Amino acid sequence: MEEETTIHWHGLLVDSDVDGVFQTIDANSSLEQTLKIRQPASTAWYHPHTMGKTASQVIEGLAGFIIIDDANSESLNLPSEYGVNDIPVVFQRKGFTSDNQISLTKSRNVSIINGAIYPTLNVSNEWVRLRIINGNNDEILELSFSDDSEKYIIATDNGFVEEPIAIDKLTLGSGERVELLVNLTEYETGDQIQIKSSNVDVMKINIDSEVDANYAFKLPDKLTEKTTVSTKGLATRDFSLAMRHMTPTINNQTYDYNRIDEYMELGTQEIWTVRNDDNMMATPHPFHIHGVTFDIIKRNNIEIQPWERGAKDTVLIYPGEEVELLVTYGNKGKFVYHCHFLDHEEAGMMGTFTVE
Ligand code: C2O
Ligand code: CU
Ligand code: CU
Repeated sequence: MEEETTIHWHGLLVDSDVDGVFQTIDANSSLEQTLKIRQPASTAWYHPHTMGKTASQVIEGLAGFIIIDDANSESLNLPSEYGVNDIPVVFQRKGFTSDNQISLTKSRNVSIINGAIYPTLNVSNEWVRLRIINGNNDEILELSFSDDSEKYIIATDNGFVEEPIAIDKLTLGSGERVELLVNLTEYETGDQIQIKSSNVDVMKINIDSEVDANYAFKLPDKLTEKTTVSTKGLATRDFSLAMRHMTPTINNQTYDYNRIDEYMELGTQEIWTVRNDDNMMATPHPFHIHGVTFDIIKRNNIEIQPWERGAKDTVLIYPGEEVELLVTYGNKGKFVYHCHFLDHEEAGMMGTFTVE
């Protein structure tokens, strides 16, 4: 590329020397990194993280999937044939110039899925796994379907939920992911289902063939073992997200690369209380923490949603809402937390912490 960048592995639980935020890749040069994967199966992604260039480089196309498998995911016999019944689906709204080029300034009003407008997914009438990323700069995805076939959440940001959770719609903030299992066995060739974003058809599932009579898939009862930890006596930290005179801030400050805001201890757990202190008319903030995974243990305005009942690294916090997160510090170094609305992030809604 002709400009500098950094690549962050969003969802990989790695030390900060390879997290990407602080490893600048100069224009027209390269960087080689070796990453050690020591985390359960999950759907992660990568995107640039250069202050001032994150939003533009993502919009111009620098982002992609990372899929992690492990012994557990393989033993579950889930649909796992990439592009056949295991389908990556990334949503990214974009704006276009009058001659159909990606624009950085035009309103982002076109739903782009895997790089295409209103794509068709051809599959047979089996169980299909959709790995969904909200890769939008600033759009909250409100997804629904034109049919009522069975749909189950099987994984959140950082891996499997304990048991499949039935849903008929879902909401994802920027940066959030889910894996969804869809039962298409009631359909026959020629049947079509619409995937809707804010009630508009944005993607079509087309049944183009039928499985043979021997086809049998059994939804697993259990996807992973979850250890419940007690939150009693854990230290807490407070974070307040707010627009101050049009500037997005965390705890009243904007991002400073040279300032360390919080110090944590490797191998420990803490409760983060994160508040969206904007008024009710304002926007939700999708809050993301690098280098850790967390469980959402409490929301004060709405219930913890079905697609939030697993290991997470990003959480949508609505205006006036307070969310409690049980955060596990398993990786070492200097990390950031920030709003994943990329314009807010770049305007300073980001802080730093160290884990040593
Ligand atoms: Cu997906 Cu710090 O970002
Ligand atoms: Cu990240
Ligand atoms: Cu924000």
